[in-house]
Amino acid sequence: MSKPKVLVARAIFPEVIARLEQHFEVEANQNDETWSKTQLIEHLRDKEGAFTTGGERIDAELLAACPALKICANMAVGYNNFDIEAMTAAGVLATNAPDVLTETTADFGFALLMATARRITESEHYLRAGKWNKWSYDMFAGSDIHGATLGILGMGRIGQGIARRGAHGFGMKVIYHNRSRLDVALEADCKASYVSKEALLKTADHVVLVLPYSPASHHTIGAAELALMKPTATLINIARGGIVDDAALAVALREKRIAAAGLDVFEGEPRVHPDLLSVPNVVLTPHIASATLPTRLAMASLAADNLVAFFSGKRPLTPLNVSVLAIK
Ligand code: GLV
Repeated sequence: MSKPKVLVARAIFPEVIARLEQHFEVEANQNDETWSKTQLIEHLRDKEGAFTTGGERIDAELLAACPALKICANMAVGYNNFDIEAMTAAGVLATNAPDVLTETTADFGFALLMATARRITESEHYLRAGKWNKWSYDMFAGSDIHGATLGILGMGRIGQGIARRGAHGFGMKVIYHNRSRLDVALEADCKASYVSKEALLKTADHVVLVLPYSPASHHTIGAAELALMKPTATLINIARGGIVDDAALAVALREKRIAAAGLDVFEGEPRVHPDLLSVPNVVLTPHIASATLPTRLAMASLAADNLVAFFSGKRPLTPLNVSVLAIK
């Protein structure tokens, strides 16, 4: 019997390609060529499965051109590259890669918070530029993390991981806002109190964004929300580009309407708003919150497991649109 044809759209771990090859006829973009949408469609046209990494847009136009496609397995927890409605209408299963990256991503959220509040990269640039000639009492004075109020917008698994780090490790007061409130036991475990979005923005010393992107969360933080924040506050975005209005943020940072920001994700990435590149009080990283090799391997393996399970007639581990599954 011939093996199902699967496209791996970006370069990934060779051992995961080898595993996929045991089950599928694999076309792999191991040279990591940058494909336009038309090129992606050309490669996907005859495939039944796709291994995607979060950057490949799967929408009605692509689905119409790829009638054999049955499943797209994302190697990312976020799946805003998928038009889930169009995929469901076309009977194409979508899977993502949650859980395996939770703690690694929460570690990074905390690292970015600390680097931002304590001005680590800004002061390093100063030192490397040879500007450090003498000590001064207020040199790169930042904001405290310990004992401060940590506001988390989006309290899924990663948000909860950040809450635990803040509350248990740094004695922070944790407040959060989410579509739905956590149950009492989880709130107690995270030592987190539910507040309105407005109260969170007004009272938090550090605001961390961990909510999923959707048209409804577009520009959750814009000029009006930034205006609610304390002038001493920091803003951290490890969620998705588009959740923050980057142009409005650059203005708020330049005018010191908030103290600092740490951004791992950007509107239109890998492009970064030029105004963000020219303000000093922002820490910028290239979408690396889940980037440790063990975690990236676990994410790739989970995407591969989803493909293998699906084509073996088993229930994939992390389906998103279960209604298209024969096995629910
Ligand atoms: C990374 O941003 C992910 O969604 O996994």
